[in-house]
Amino acid sequence: MRILFLNGPNLNMLGLREPGIYGSKSLGDIGDTLRERAKAAGVEINFRQSNHEGELVTWIQDARGQFDFIVLNAGAYTHTSIALRDAISAAEVPTIEIHLSNIHARESFRHQSMIAPVCIGQIAGFGEDSYHLALEACLKKMI
Ligand code: DQA
Repeated sequence: MRILFLNGPNLNMLGLREPGIYGSKSLGDIGDTLRERAKAAGVEINFRQSNHEGELVTWIQDARGQFDFIVLNAGAYTHTSIALRDAISAAEVPTIEIHLSNIHARESFRHQSMIAPVCIGQIAGFGEDSYHLALEACLKKMI
């Protein structure tokens, strides 16, 4: 099984950025722990981040036929990007939306997700564990 983990804008600042909301771990630390767990489960993961909407769109398109799942933390593009939503629909790779914070308990502009309707589910509010829970969900879906 191959899983593509994609991270959107400002997630490269994790650890420094609003640690009270997003935690003190860097994105690199999260990726390292995830890689260890994936390896133990016999899963291949690819973990990437971009601040550019178009680059995320291209990566989602290119996942078609290459990955079994996409796990996507689209950051602020979650709330704005029809382009990401269309890319998910076009790629036809089952996609799980994740967030470190509980977007529904924050500002009202974060309550809407443009991508949620084209994802198989959403995991939000568990910090780093949102990534691990998404990995678990992929493993369960494959059985
Ligand atoms: C986020 C939530 C978004 O609203 C925000 O813009 C982010 C991070 C999260 O992981 O909690 O950049 O996706």
